[in-house]
Amino acid sequence: MRTQMDGHELLKVLSSNKLGGHKMTIEWNDKLSVGNEAIDEDHKHLVKLINAYEKAVSENNLKVLGLAFTALEKYAHEHFEREEKIQQAVHYPHRNSHREAHKALLQAVEAKHKQIENHEKINIEELSSFLRSWLIDHVVKEDMKLKPYLTGGRTQ
Ligand SMILES: [Fe+2]
Repeated sequence: MRTQMDGHELLKVLSSNKLGGHKMTIEWNDKLSVGNEAIDEDHKHLVKLINAYEKAVSENNLKVLGLAFTALEKYAHEHFEREEKIQQAVHYPHRNSHREAHKALLQAVEAKHKQIENHEKINIEELSSFLRSWLIDHVVKEDMKLKPYLTGGRTQ
């Protein structure tokens, strides 16, 4: 049995649910599981936060938008730390480069948050696709590589 899908397949899974016939929400699917409950629960929560952000956008609610972004930033930070500990524990061989990737993802989200706080002109649609690809790049492309190490399929 195949345990991994390629990025394109997973991308389809992530964006397959349409809400109200136009705006696509991200929906968690078991195919997104990396084989570790703690990491999966975190990812589900990140998906929820991104959906909360998009709901705030669709309702034009700037206050909720700011709150959702703050929550996302904070949670991402905690999640990355948890994930790095797990990678350490399973001796994931690419953990150093993964840590660097986490850093870059956090910096990108912090930069966007600053723009919101400074009331800079932001393109909401662009921000939305930024968050989606932020999540997809992380969960789909990077974390999926962890799966064989977390499900006992591989050791170093
Ligand atoms: Fe992750």
